[in-house]
Amino acid sequence: MASNISGFYKMSQEERLEVLKQNCKISDEELHLLKELKPMDFKTADIMIENVVGVFGLPLGIATNFVVNGKDYLIPMAIEESSVVAAASKAAKIARLSGGFKADANKQHMIGQIQIMVKGKKTNSVIKKIRANKKALLEKANACDKVLVSFGGGAKDLIIRHFEGFIVLHLIVDVRDAMGANAINTMCETIAPEIEKIANCRTGIKIISNLAVYRLAKAKAVFTKHLLEEESGKGIVDEIIKAWKFALADPYRAVTHNKGIMNGIDAIAIATGNDFRALEAGAHGYACIKGNYKPLTKYYKDKNGNLIGEITMPLQFGIVGGSTRVNPMAKLCLNILGVKSAQELAEVAASVGLAQNFAALYALSTKGIQYGHMKLHAKNIAVQAGAKNYEIDAVAEAMISSKSINEASAKEILKKIRRDTL
Ligand code: MEV
Repeated sequence: MASNISGFYKMSQEERLEVLKQNCKISDEELHLLKELKPMDFKTADIMIENVVGVFGLPLGIATNFVVNGKDYLIPMAIEESSVVAAASKAAKIARLSGGFKADANKQHMIGQIQIMVKGKKTNSVIKKIRANKKALLEKANACDKVLVSFGGGAKDLIIRHFEGFIVLHLIVDVRDAMGANAINTMCETIAPEIEKIANCRTGIKIISNLAVYRLAKAKAVFTKHLLEEESGKGIVDEIIKAWKFALADPYRAVTHNKGIMNGIDAIAIATGNDFRALEAGAHGYACIKGNYKPLTKYYKDKNGNLIGEITMPLQFGIVGGSTRVNPMAKLCLNILGVKSAQELAEVAASVGLAQNFAALYALSTKGIQYGHMKLHAKNIAVQAGAKNYEIDAVAEAMISSKSINEASAKEILKKIRRDTL
């Protein structure tokens, strides 16, 4: 499968669906779901949440050109913001020319937390008893999820952390291809009464931690200097590095910088039925793990002056369980991606996050972010004014150059184009 599909953005819906049919393992039934814009029936929605009255739509786009670890991917992105899909595709096109993204995700280890209400002298004896029973506690946790254990996952370790007035037990669980919240919360709730018995103490709350520091994903790409200079002139690599340094120095900028990364990550999360709030919480928590809020990416030059971009962040994605398999659109989007594991999905998502960030810094360092937005807006106005096919781009470009984007200008330009082509 090749993801560098030329002119995808110019195709009709039918032609785009044909590309998906040719390149991805999706059924005719799934194609029908896309064609008919019917993402979910009432019954499915009604078992997912409470008090359902309908389903809510979001555009689903496909980012093209992605190569991650030598494999081509078409990236499904569900998002309301214009330019995000185009920006990711453009960045991936540049990265592709130097081999694409190299990505690597950790083992899928997550943390469950159990608060233990103990202080003063008793603390040491409680810790000793927990340590002495570690094997039995892990076995008890693993008995909650035999399927996970059969796939090589399950509870692996216990770690004690100290706070004023209580201690916290971290249960480390390899969640394999799941996001993991259900498995972990069940395990924590199951072993907490056991801990109370063994150590004669009271436990407080038990819940997953979304600060997934053992589930990091990294991606790296080379954005070739001559390609960037060809389009945007000399000094562009330095400008992008300076823009990144702004985020490094200033948390007000770093938050927006990371927001741009999450444009890509959340769009994949929503498309694949993943918990984007967990991903957001983990990303921003990790961004300030050392005390100051920092960008999740880094940029520098190689010896040839090419721009190197890197990203490291926690990514808690699942491809089994939760809504990833209940929501028919999520299932379909996972089929479009063709990922075989949660680890692979995290590697792809990290690459998309980096692509999104590079695209934002590139745009901000050159034409500014409004140019892309205005282009789309101008196209919409052109269509409203009656422009068809090639006329749409021509009218939009003319309105942007004249800095007059409204229906009256569009109609006037359209009249002129049609007169000139007679
Ligand atoms: C907009 O959704 C995202 C950006 O603000 C990100 C950034 O500023 O880096 C363009």
